[in-house]
Amino acid sequence: MTKTRPAPDPSASSLLVWYDRHHRTLPWRLSPADLAEGQRPDPYHVWLSEIMLQQTTVGAVKAYFEKFLTLWPTLADLASAPEEDILKAWAGLGYYSRARNLKKCADHVVLHHNGRFPETAKALKELPGIGDYTSAAIAAIAFDEPVAVVDGNIERITARLYRLQEVLPKAKKEIKAKVAELTPSERPGDFAQAMMDLGASLCSPKKPACALCPFSGACLAERAGDQESYPRKAPKKAKPTRYGAAFLIRRNSDQALWLRKRPGKGLLASMSEVPGSDWSGKSAENFDLTTALDHAPEGLDFHKLDGQVIHTFTHFHLVLDVYEAISKEAAPTDIGWWSSAQELANEALPTVFRKVLALGEKAEEERRERQAK
Ligand code: ADE
Repeated sequence: MTKTRPAPDPSASSLLVWYDRHHRTLPWRLSPADLAEGQRPDPYHVWLSEIMLQQTTVGAVKAYFEKFLTLWPTLADLASAPEEDILKAWAGLGYYSRARNLKKCADHVVLHHNGRFPETAKALKELPGIGDYTSAAIAAIAFDEPVAVVDGNIERITARLYRLQEVLPKAKKEIKAKVAELTPSERPGDFAQAMMDLGASLCSPKKPACALCPFSGACLAERAGDQESYPRKAPKKAKPTRYGAAFLIRRNSDQALWLRKRPGKGLLASMSEVPGSDWSGKSAENFDLTTALDHAPEGLDFHKLDGQVIHTFTHFHLVLDVYEAISKEAAPTDIGWWSSAQELANEALPTVFRKVLALGEKAEEERRERQAK
């Protein structure tokens, strides 16, 4: 009748034993065996990966991490790169303020810290783009500081371990205190990464694999059998949907597309885009194409493409109608540039505009198929 006995305290050492066997191999990570041999993590790699992993999955980050290290093998290389090149390499990862802060942070470390990252969470948090989570993760992983590292996965594990009744985000303080208690003074970086790996594998949001878990028996939610109801959450607000239009302008001689740069402030700041309306339309019915066309270059004959682009940002869903026109050689407006098919892959074009281009490609293919018939 183990269920009625008091639960043993969860222990960091049982998690570390699990991690030694089951840790993921990741391009920015040194394995427990590498560390035991005396290798040290490169703080530049740890910082770069942690910035990329904010709001982005491990699977999506791997290729970007490797591309960045090929382009800029050291922090000094990154600091000497123009912001524009960094935005181009970042395109597709989303949350573009991270890329602008990457450049700011690299400049700051080179200028004010002799090119070396400070080694405590407190000092790291002073740097551009580095908040609570990232400062703790870098301090623990790169510099062995025993600080509490708490991301969404770790919140879930901790809320289950202690069966915390408070809802998120109110529960954050209590969760951090519990993680701080649990964090060992030896191998705090491995402990943090073990929690991340556990959250990404066994301690999943739905149907956690508790029988295999190193915290099995100590986890209060497992003992109560109500794991899936943690962490408790306040009901989510529904996201509004906004509507707008995007204008693909193709040059008739070579199919190059007309792009322009977005303003330096606000959503997707300083990234490239195809011309478009603002995204203030509140419904498809009252979306007014005449005002949308005010934002489109004049003197071109736009036709609407079939289908729409749907994209979700943090605070709203966006539905875009896409219009296309063929242009002569001359620039259609005074702001922007022609981007050839080869150049397009390297433009700092966020995913929403890549979707607009994809809709244009699809329309083009369908046109060719119709002509071939
Ligand atoms: N998610 C955020 N940081 C991570 C890391 N260092 N390892 C695995 N997943 C992560």
